[in-house]
Formats: sequence, structure tokens, C-alpha cells
Amino acid sequence: MLTLYESQRRLTAFLLLLLTFCAYFTLVVSVKHENFKTCDQSGFCKRNRAYADTASSTSLWQAPYSLDASSVKFEQGILTGTVLKKLINSDETVRLPLTISFYESGTARVTLDEERRQKGDIVLRHDSKAKKQRYNEAEKWAIVGGTSLSSGAATSKGSEKGTTNVHYGPAGTFEAVIRHEPFGIDFKRDGVAQVKFNDKGFLNLEHWRPKVEKPAEDKKEGEEAVVAESSKEVTEDQSTWWDESFGGNTDSKPKGPESVALDISFPGYQHVFGVAEHAGPLSLKETRGGDGQYSDPYRLYNSDVFEYEMDSPMTLYGAIPFMQAQKKDSTVGVFWLNAAETWIDVTKSTSSANPLSLGILGSTTTNTHWISESGLLDVFVFLGPKPQDVITAYSELTGFTQLPQQFAIAYHQCRWNYVTDEDVRDVDRKMDKHRIPYDVIWLDIEYTEGKKYFTWDPMTFADPLGMEKQLDEHERKLVAIIDPHIKNEGNYHVVDELKSKDLAVHNKEGNIYEGWCWPGSSHWVDCFNPAAHSWWKSLFRYDKFKGTAKNTWIWNDMNEPSVFNGPETTMPKDNLHYGNWEHRDVHNINGMTFHNATYHAILARDKEEDKNNVRPFVLTRSFYSGSQRLGAMWTGDNQADWPHLEASIPMILSMGISGFPFAGADVGGFFGNPSKELLTRWYQAGAFYPFFRGHAHIDTRRREPYLAGEPYTQIITQALRLRYALLPAWYTAFHEAHTTGAPIIRPNYYVHPGDEKGFAIDDQLYVGSTGLLAKPVTTEGADGVDIYLADKEKYFDYFDYWMYEGPTTVKVAAPLDTIPLLMQGGHIIPRRDRPRRSSGLMRYDPFTLVIVLGHSGDANGTLYLDDGESFDYEEGAYIHRLFEYTSATATLMSRDLTPASSSPSKKTKEYLKSMEKVRVEKIIVVNVPESWNGKKEVEVSEELEGKSAGTRMAELEWHGKVEGRAAWAVVRDPGVLIGGGWRVGFA
Ligand code: NOJ
Repeated sequence: MLTLYESQRRLTAFLLLLLTFCAYFTLVVSVKHENFKTCDQSGFCKRNRAYADTASSTSLWQAPYSLDASSVKFEQGILTGTVLKKLINSDETVRLPLTISFYESGTARVTLDEERRQKGDIVLRHDSKAKKQRYNEAEKWAIVGGTSLSSGAATSKGSEKGTTNVHYGPAGTFEAVIRHEPFGIDFKRDGVAQVKFNDKGFLNLEHWRPKVEKPAEDKKEGEEAVVAESSKEVTEDQSTWWDESFGGNTDSKPKGPESVALDISFPGYQHVFGVAEHAGPLSLKETRGGDGQYSDPYRLYNSDVFEYEMDSPMTLYGAIPFMQAQKKDSTVGVFWLNAAETWIDVTKSTSSANPLSLGILGSTTTNTHWISESGLLDVFVFLGPKPQDVITAYSELTGFTQLPQQFAIAYHQCRWNYVTDEDVRDVDRKMDKHRIPYDVIWLDIEYTEGKKYFTWDPMTFADPLGMEKQLDEHERKLVAIIDPHIKNEGNYHVVDELKSKDLAVHNKEGNIYEGWCWPGSSHWVDCFNPAAHSWWKSLFRYDKFKGTAKNTWIWNDMNEPSVFNGPETTMPKDNLHYGNWEHRDVHNINGMTFHNATYHAILARDKEEDKNNVRPFVLTRSFYSGSQRLGAMWTGDNQADWPHLEASIPMILSMGISGFPFAGADVGGFFGNPSKELLTRWYQAGAFYPFFRGHAHIDTRRREPYLAGEPYTQIITQALRLRYALLPAWYTAFHEAHTTGAPIIRPNYYVHPGDEKGFAIDDQLYVGSTGLLAKPVTTEGADGVDIYLADKEKYFDYFDYWMYEGPTTVKVAAPLDTIPLLMQGGHIIPRRDRPRRSSGLMRYDPFTLVIVLGHSGDANGTLYLDDGESFDYEEGAYIHRLFEYTSATATLMSRDLTPASSSPSKKTKEYLKSMEKVRVEKIIVVNVPESWNGKKEVEVSEELEGKSAGTRMAELEWHGKVEGRAAWAVVRDPGVLIGGGWRVGFA
């Protein structure tokens, strides 16, 4: 029998849940456009578009910005000066300090700030506490390196009058031509302009101005008591300068208009990519109308967009203001470091056949227009010329992707919600019973007691530690959700501390901000505050967050932040953060600060100060440039339909080229119930997402893979097994991302930057540098797909070695049980073929090497391996091998890629010792020469500690060509070690 108290408690909980659902479901029927602003409804966006239109359409337009030549100084890689903004119809100017930094990496950075004026200094309304400065701390969160100044950069006398020129970059091949009047910069490589700033004259920095109250007698009833700073500036739309209403919310704007905007052109470049996160094609569309184009700019304003729509420039959960432009054999990029709401217009123009248009005759130029609500103008320019150069330079600045633990790149089983600890144990047992591999099971918000994070519902999760122990028996993990909204309820230690220590976000009056999210009334921890960061860290200690164990990891959701009753489902822009920065200034970085605090909390959960030696795993929904250092992201609340499956590929590819490649989409689709075919195809696609997690909404039917029934369960299991077999290749790709910034899954343009025909392809992908080329099926009832092969190379079906040859588009059969997956000639792919329950159990399993011979007959590939969990790799505890097959001598060599060291660390020795028995159990050679027919043996020679350890023979099995398939051979048990040096002679 339930006690009265218990039944009351349950009733309240039920009502609350109902309320939450109602709130949620009224919002989720389909994307509510009316909840989100268009450019026209966003005052600063509208003003800047109008400004651009005036600049473009007025033949006598004179851009009002000039660089005061007498102010220019160049010293040790930095150019400084003052840009003067001439006010319209006035003699007054506004002084804008300019800094252009030239970095050793070849990256240039342009920063424009605003000088505080004596007279007419910024005047705030409402006795606002907002900081009276342009936000200049974005770099504190986003930039972690790559800023050492170039010693070689030097000014030179330009050939054009009225310019200052700086040569910089590799061997001085880059040049910044800084035009004085109107102010603008052309960035050149080998004498050719690649990126142009303010070529169209859209540069606009809305300077601070005092708000002038209208004399009382001029005021009509109900009218705002405001006039322009100068009545001469009447041409501008001032209606949203001092406040702006949308959807019943009014944003007070204590600092008035303060947007920054600039046009950035890419002459000769037909494609631009990036500015994640949007649900649209990888190659960005034009945004000023036209057939099949968008009419709104791409928007970056991190938001919880329920049931987001496909093919749209609407904002989503995260923002990476980094764009790359692509033309044949050249990639360049820009990074717009600004944390405020940002819009980006994209247009293209084709030059006429003008014989003087040297080199770019009849070519397309992409023009972009970047508009941010506040902050500095702060832009980095990367001149390539390869995609890898651009992404590496960007990653040096914002940080490389975290090297995740191995389990994190295996399969994750999630739903909202596994309802009890027994439910979790049951799923765990059933996955084993059906021999379905998985590494992690997830708990969504219902595990908590009344949505109070850091608590467990005692009725449903009475024994979390027992549950985690069961998972650990097969090296499995638990991920529990922790959101940034803290329930506003008495006697909840977290909210009590948040309040008493004053660590929450404040409203514009400076009081604790209150809004609604899952728990109902909530407050938001302000992770910009160092004290909040430290406090947050303390909450995850095992003795604080009771019920968590070493195999518990964290999921950060709703950190845009999502506020159900806030404007555009987020916080009011005039809320205040640490340092009295307005939320407006920092919005897009907010999610990253929360993710960052959780990452550091997990690092410190064993010991207060020390760095725990285990790599944290924290998933985030909201992100900014730099979030890649902290964990994985996923694309949020997608739907169980085919268009969402299709859209997941370009979305994840886009994350990959944006420096945050540890990305995935909810497999199966979050909202709705997928058909069994869709679910199966989604698992096959998910096996190629860097972050691979099945997830489902609370209102959907259960869909763990074993529930699908045959043949679906079997086919899904095969897809999962494929992922597990290829984990060595995936982990190696992650290591490459970690050290170079390279995407983990790569679009066609990235791999073939010289092949213009393939630039817009975004439905097929290469896995790291392995030569694996997948094209997941994303349409219903398909039995085949077309795969575009960009290069003159042989490709082979992964499963049956069917031969294809590029450059061309080939048809690949794909009945439901088949994933279209090819291997490009010239690669060596490492894998582990023994089926296991989890990746942890594969630690000492032997390897298979697949040598894929293409046109040249040579092949190579790498393998990176470490303990898959600790930071010991930073002290050299890893194996890094290069496998090289040379056709001239018909030999396969394994070479060491670790830097030579005379005294390996203790950790290195220990790790190598632990791996000393791990061997290669199979070498498969695909497309073997005809001459191998009849060959029965290969000669194996091993090296031990740099010395030859003798030779022996191993058996070779030859398989001749059948139909369109390649001949292949296999060496079973060559007896060589994965970490050792050796040679296999096939001659
Ligand atoms: C929104 C997230 O996007 C979704 O994945 C999660 O299940 C719900 N919040 C509930 O926590």
C-alpha cells in the first residue's frame, strides 16, 4: 500500500510531468517559424541588409571608413592603426582601433574595436549594470594556441597608391594589401587575391551613441521618448535601436545599436562550406532569394529548435563561425570570432568575359556578408592552399579534437528513458543474449528525483552502483544526463548552494534569473564565472554525486540554453553574466562554458586538484569553436523519417570540416517511430558517424536492435559488427583529427580538391585516411546507389572485392543487408575481426591488415593504438605504425612512426609490455597480380629491438578472379606483432 505522502508525491510528479509534456508537445508539432526570428524581424540584421542594399544600389556610395595613414605602425608581426568612421552628413568621426596580426602559421587576424569617446560616451538605460564595453573575451574561450607572431612578416611598398602592404606566410607568398580609403583588405597568395574584406563597402560598425530623449512636448501618447543621436541620421531605421519586441518579449537594449558587419568576398571561388550548424547541403546556398535558394541569411544563434526542418538556413543548437571557400586546387577560409547572434548572407556572381579579368575570366565569385549584433570585429584569414592547411591552421587556434576513449567511438544505446535500474540491466542482458555489441547505455532526465540533477529517483533507481557494476562486467559504461537548469525548489542542495554562493545567471536588474525548463521553475548556473566553474567541479566528485562510479560519464543537454518560456526558447539577451556582460554578447559561447565546466569536473572527480588520468567523455548539444577540445556533439532532435536520415550526412560532414568532427545524429530518429527498414538503414549509416548512438523520444515505441526481429536484427548486428571490426581504423582517424584537425569523415572536395565536379557532393564520405568510401542508403526501397569516384583509381567492394574504376559514377548494389562501402586502391586498412560484446574486451585481440592494391601497385596505411582510456599516450604510451607495401619488391613493411627516443618513459615501456603479445592474425591482399597464382608461401622477417630476429615462412592462400571481382590472397597467422618492426616478402 502506498502511504498518503507517497501517493501525493506521485500525483504531483505526474502532474508536473504532464505539464512539461504539454509545454513540450505544444511546441513540437512541427517547427514553429513564428518562434524564431527572420532577418527582417531582427533589428540589426535588417539594418545591415538595408545598408548593404544601399551600398550596392547607390552608384555614388562612399563607404565611410578610412584608415588614417599617419596612424599606421608595423612592429614584430603586428600592424596597428586607426580606422576613422565618418558620420553621415556630419564632420564628426568615430575612431576605431585596428590591429592586424600576422602569425607564424600563416594566419592573419584583423581586429577592429571602438574607442571610448569623451563626449557622447555610451549611456545606459534602466540604470543597467551591463558592462560598458564591446565584448572582447570571446578569444579567452575559443583560442588556445597558434598565435605566435610571424618573425618574417614585413611591410613593403605596394604597387597600388594608398595602400600598406604586408608580406607574410610561407616564404612570404602571402600578402595583405591594406587599402586606406575606403578601408579594405585584399589577401593574396602568389600575387592573386583570394579573400577580400570590404570590397563591396558593407563594413559597418554601429558606434555607441547616447540615447537622446525627445522633449516631452514632442512626444505623442505611448510613443518612445527617443530621437536619433543626430537628427541628420534620419535615413537609418532606428525603430529597434533602444528596444526590440518579439513574441511577447521585449529586449531592452541598454547600449543601443552596436552591431558589426563586413563583406568578405572569395574571388573565383564557386563553393563555400561551413558555418555549422544548419540542416542543409554542405555547399552553402545563396541567401538572397532566387530559384531553390534561401531568402534569409544563415543564422547562428544557438537555439533549441524543436522539430527542425530540412534544407534551411535557420539556426540550430551550435555555432561555428568558420567558413571555407573552394575552387579548383585551392581552399581558403575565414573565422569570424564573435559570440553574439550572427547572420551570414551568401551570394554568388559570375564575372563577364572581360579579357582584363586576369585569371578569373568568366568565373564565379562568392560574396558573403557577416553581421553580428555586438562585440568586436575579429576575423582570422587562412590562405590554404589545401583543405588540410586551412583546417590545421584553424585547429591550432581553437584546439584539436579531444582524443576520446575507445568506448566513446563504439556504439551507444540511449533512449528517453530507461525507466529503472532493472530496465538497464535487462537491456544489457538482452544485447548479450542477441550477441549485439555495445559499449554504453544512457540515462535521460527521468533517472533523477523530480529533475533534480545529481540525485537518483529512489523508487526507480534504487541501486545505481549495482547497475554500473553489472555494466562493468563487460567493460560497459553508463552515461547520465546533467543539464544546466537547476530546479528552483527548497531543500535541494544544488539550488541552495547556487543561490547562496550567487553563481547563477542574473536578470537585467541584477537579480537571480528565473525561467522554465524540464524541472519547472529553474535557475541557470553561470559557467562564465570562475567560482561557478569551481563549484560545478565539486558536484561531480564521487562522494558528492553519489551513485556514480568510474564507468559513469556525462551528457550535457539544453545548454543553448533552452528556456521554455524565454524569447526564442532561450534567455533574454539583457540577462547578465559574470563580469556584467550581457547575455547578448556571449550567447553562442554559453553552451561551451557549461560543457567546459563539466569536462573539468570529470577530470577532477577523483581528486580535487589533480588531473584524473582518465579522459573524460561528455556529450554536448550546444557548441562553439573550441568545443571539439571537450567531447562529442550530436545533431539534436531529428525525426524518424528518410529526409532526416539523408540530412544527417551533410550535417556531420559539415561538422568534420569545421574542426569538430566527433559528431553524430540520433540513430533511428528522435521523434516518431521508424519503420524497420528505416531503422536498419539508419544503423548502417550510423556505423559511419564518428559518434554512433541510437536514441529515441520518450513517446516512441521501444526500439533496441533485438526488438526489430529478423532479418532486421541480424542486419543491424552486422552493421554494428562492421563498426567494431573497423575500430582500429576509426581510432587512427580520431588520432589524426587530434593531431592535425583533419575531419574523421571527409567529403569529396576535401579528398579531391582538384576535382570541381565533386565539390558539391555531400552524400558519400571517406573514413579518415583509410581510403574507405561509404555511401549510406538514405532512401526507402533502394536496392542500389550511385557512387561518384573522383580519381583515376581502382575501388573494390569492401565485402566481395567487386572492382570499380574511376573517374566515373558507378552503381553499387545495396539490398537491405548491404552497406555500399568501397576501398580505394593504394591503402592498407587495419581491423579486428573477432566479435566481442564491447570494445573494451577487444583490447588484446589480434589484427587483420587489408592491403588494397590499386593502379600503382603500392599501398600504405597507418595504425594508432594506445590504452584507449588514459592520458598516458601524452607520455609516449602508444603504438603508431606505418604499413607500406611496395610492388617493386612485393614486400610489406611495418615501420615505427613514434618519434625516436633514447629513453622511453616508464608508461611507454609498461604499455608496450602490455601489448607485446598482440599480433597480426591475417593479412589480406586485394587485387593481387596474376603472377601470384600458385604462390603458397611468404617470407616473414621480424626485428626485435632494431635487430633481425630471423626469418620464417607463412602460408599464403590465393583466390583467383571471379566475375567482376578482384583476385585476392590471404596470409593466415604471419606470426608478427602489431607493435613490432617486420617485413613480409611476397615475391
Ligand atoms: C532534448 C534532447 O535533445 C533529447 O535528446 C533529450 O532526450 C531530451 N532533451 C530530454 O532530455
